[in-house]
Amino acid sequence: MANISSILLKRKTIRKYSSKIVGNELLNSILTAGCRASTTGNMQVYSIIVTRDEAKKKELFPLHFNQKMITEAPVILTFCADFNRFNKWCILRKAEPGYDNFLSFMTAAIDALFVAQTVCIAAESEGLGICYLGTTTYMASKIIETLKLPKGVVPITTVTIGWPDENPEQVDRLPLEAIIHNETYCDYSHDKIEQYYKEKENREDSRRYVEENNDEMHNCTSLAQVFTDIRYKKADNVYFSKTLLKVLKDQGFMEQ
Ligand SMILES: Cc1cc2nc3c(=O)[nH]c(=O)nc-3n(C[C@H](O)[C@H](O)[C@H](O)COP(=O)(O)O)c2cc1C
Repeated sequence: MANISSILLKRKTIRKYSSKIVGNELLNSILTAGCRASTTGNMQVYSIIVTRDEAKKKELFPLHFNQKMITEAPVILTFCADFNRFNKWCILRKAEPGYDNFLSFMTAAIDALFVAQTVCIAAESEGLGICYLGTTTYMASKIIETLKLPKGVVPITTVTIGWPDENPEQVDRLPLEAIIHNETYCDYSHDKIEQYYKEKENREDSRRYVEENNDEMHNCTSLAQVFTDIRYKKADNVYFSKTLLKVLKDQGFMEQ
């Protein structure tokens, strides 16, 4: 059996899945392994919603901006920050919960993400393919309605899982020296930024990406502009920040 590092070095996001089923026994063993992730104070303030039902997937589909993985993957997992269960336990045991604040949301969101990533590694180590969907935080309010999440629960990320039906090229990573700082943060000179992003910018797929987005409508002349002007625009970020803050308020995390 391959070790974890060699699995991680070869891994890549999979967005196309075969029709082969992911059995409950396998799914449960992946979830059991994933739930061994570290959590804050071992409070385990997260929940995972498993979606297999086709009708439910159809409801989720537009909320994830029609990304086809939602209807094509056999299993969808929505990882949620969840203080609802822990609060109920506290109240039942005459303990006063103080978790209606932003810090507690962060605590629960961090727990949910660690578990999500550990589940992904467990799934990939079984040969399954996974894809995260960042649309979850954009559309949290509608996902809360669809998955019937009570107060104290906020969806953080979604992962689609299935047997791979594609074998895409691995995408790039920045060089390790661009990411690692020894002892204290070493801020980036222009030269270092040039050096660290050069390989990414010179890749064939990056160049094509810029060309495709250099038309009358967008006029992108650099890869960075594809990010700032098209993929992750300020106007969208501001809009979705506002809607997410409202969700946190509605779900009871902004009472401080
Ligand atoms: C938080 C998060 C959100 C993501 N959202 C999406 C998404 O909505 N759609 C998608 O196709 N991929 C999504 N991805 C996958 C990334 O695009 C992918 O991980 C990245 O391009 C690197 O590719 P790799 O995982 O194959 O190395 C997301 C990944 C993360 C971690």
